[in-house]
Amino acid sequence: MLQGKTTLQGKQILLVIGGGIAAYKSLDLIRRLRERGGSVRAVLTPAALHFVTPLSIASLSGNRVHEELFSLIDEAEMGHIELSRAADLVVVAPATADLIAKAANGLANDLASTLLLATDKKILMAPAMNLRMWLHPATARNVQRLKADGAAFVGPADGDMACGEYGPGRMSEPLEIVAAIEAALMQDTTVPLPPGVGRPRTVGGSLAGRKVLITSGPTLEPIDPVRYIANRSSGRQGHAIARAAALAGAEVVLVTGPVSIPDPAGVDTRHVETAREMLACVDAALPADIFVSAAAVADWRVDEVGGNKIKKGLAGTPSLSLIENPDILAHVAQLAQGRPGLVVGFAAETEKLLDNARAKLARKRCDLIVANDVGEGTGVMGGLSNTVHLVTLDGVESWPPLDKDEVARRLIEKMAALFGPLASGDQAQ
Ligand code: CTP
Repeated sequence: MLQGKTTLQGKQILLVIGGGIAAYKSLDLIRRLRERGGSVRAVLTPAALHFVTPLSIASLSGNRVHEELFSLIDEAEMGHIELSRAADLVVVAPATADLIAKAANGLANDLASTLLLATDKKILMAPAMNLRMWLHPATARNVQRLKADGAAFVGPADGDMACGEYGPGRMSEPLEIVAAIEAALMQDTTVPLPPGVGRPRTVGGSLAGRKVLITSGPTLEPIDPVRYIANRSSGRQGHAIARAAALAGAEVVLVTGPVSIPDPAGVDTRHVETAREMLACVDAALPADIFVSAAAVADWRVDEVGGNKIKKGLAGTPSLSLIENPDILAHVAQLAQGRPGLVVGFAAETEKLLDNARAKLARKRCDLIVANDVGEGTGVMGGLSNTVHLVTLDGVESWPPLDKDEVARRLIEKMAALFGPLASGDQAQ
């Protein structure tokens, strides 16, 4: 169980570990980040493998370690572009003279340097090297250039070096790096592209000119500062719909609870934790032409979350008092003003699938319910495929088992057809 402050709850950090003796401190850095609720994916340079092992890093981070650019497994699971963008912040520790030089000059001949060039997030460097290397004009030039490009630095500190000399070049201590990470994450860490660049090329797509707002993933409801209630949603279906909507030419805002999959390309992705944060974020993102509520929103939250960790044994077994969360789908579907033209909900059921879906369509007043059986043995929750039934007031359309990406693609086409062609001037303002 995690303990202490959860200042990094829900934050994903991509940690690039360079090949220097200070790499041993990165093991402690990972522990400190995880203690604070952060999740860490680590990338090792070939040189780093001489100082720390992938096994120790994977054990501490709880994630597999990435080392090679041209690893087919990595590309099938998560390509290097996605890996570089799934994080909230990229941290290089230790940042060796070599890594700094590569990043400053835009070299991309291994996984670490490629990620530094491909990322859309801020980079924080914690340099570590011999003092002559740090003081060398070439390194000073490279650091200046990286700062001008927007990278942040923590350290190096003065101190005794592994090589016996004294001076600047020691990597900052893990807790100082943590403080710099927390400070960096106080601000928006996405590095914007020039306007009009970066969205998928989709002129004339079926949702061109439309704005689609989508919720995805679970919500996470705190019990106390270290514990929470969550559910098994992976966010795969909601994220796939966001990707498909972007590919169909829509402007897409995705509001997601904590998931371990990357943000979809070309989508404005906003991260939240609780149902109430999700509702506020959805309200802030409206108006939209289409709203798709794919999130597995927790139905209840704990009433009165205290500021301290609930201790064992003091007052027997604690009992939790739960109160109902707002229903985001019903709220959007029943907006008196600014209701999206098409409101789509999901019904994840373990019994009486179609009856429950019809009841939800009526109760929440949405236009379409995508019903799926998530009972034991279906493998839908967290899995890659889905068997869905489209329930509207006109009846039910059942689809065969499909890959979640294919479900998403077909749903988008269905929504585009239901929404109708874009008349000039009628998109969400
Ligand atoms: N939903 C929502 N906000 C909630 C609960 C659900 O927006 N607080 C949305 C989900 O995103 C989904 C739909 O409502 O699109 C149905 O969610 P589901 O969990 O199946 O239904 P519930 O309304 O929670 O009803 P029950 O748990 O009784 O099945």
